[in-house]
Amino acid sequence: MIVCSCNVLSDGAVRACLNRGSDCPRTPAQVHACLGCSPKCGRCARTIRAIMETALADAAHACSTGCATGCSLVKVAQAEEEIAA
Ligand code: FES
Repeated sequence: MIVCSCNVLSDGAVRACLNRGSDCPRTPAQVHACLGCSPKCGRCARTIRAIMETALADAAHACSTGCATGCSLVKVAQAEEEIAA
């Protein structure tokens, strides 16, 4: 499914760039940069953020490199685990 019509980015492309260790994008703009483009209208930001949060929560964010401590996506996953507990 296309989630960014300006740059023709699919949800699969967004997910594919999320497990990159210390290079893991932390914002929708960083996802765009990872995929070689930049945000234009911004309508996709909320959708991309939701994909990021869901994908990383589902995968328990396999990032085991130095970015894990400060990664906002790890914090989202941890918060969801705390809520579920
Ligand atoms: S829909 Fe993604 S920047 Fe416009």
